[in-house]
Amino acid sequence: MNIAVFASGSGSNAENITRYFDRKPEDKVTLILSDNPNAGVIERARKLQVPVFVFTKDQLQNGAVKEVLERQSIDFVVLAGFLKLIPKNLIEKFPGRIINIHPSLLPKYGGRGMYGSKVHEAVKAAKEEYTGITIHFVNEKYDDGAIILQVKEKLRPKDDVSDIEKKVHRLEYNYYPEVIEDLLDDIRAKNKK
Ligand code: GRF
Repeated sequence: MNIAVFASGSGSNAENITRYFDRKPEDKVTLILSDNPNAGVIERARKLQVPVFVFTKDQLQNGAVKEVLERQSIDFVVLAGFLKLIPKNLIEKFPGRIINIHPSLLPKYGGRGMYGSKVHEAVKAAKEEYTGITIHFVNEKYDDGAIILQVKEKLRPKDDVSDIEKKVHRLEYNYYPEVIEDLLDDIRAKNKK
């Protein structure tokens, strides 16, 4: 199946997912999309030789992004550090086939404005004993769809924001590709019935 990855920033998850599926026979990342023309993910995509589509907010809203996904025969959409809300036109086109990763144990530290290091700063400020990742289906609200997997990580009082970020990234790299693969296997199994 063809996977599209949406990212607004550095794109280390997008790269990790692309490399994971490069080693697999059945599924591939065939398109990387970004709403940010200056995002690091664009250079990563170029190195990985994956086509990139950079789009505007209007193109996301008016169905132009959806048309690109259709034209490229995309089966599954992965958000990895993507900061805009996914519009109804995409949710309806890919029911149960759009997922996101959030760098905290939702519902804690989620919602509008909670992204990237802001999440880890808030976790640190609250002296949380644990943080972690949440992988969830995407709906029309921020960080709100049904949870697929949460993984917890113990924090030490001396962990600073960048230590927390590193711990969370490690979890993301370990778990996100496998969750995507499992969901694709489920879709394949259902299609065969
Ligand atoms: C990740 O922590 C992801 O969970 C979050 O934004 C970060 C993106 O990192 N939503 P990268 O762009 O994949 O390096």
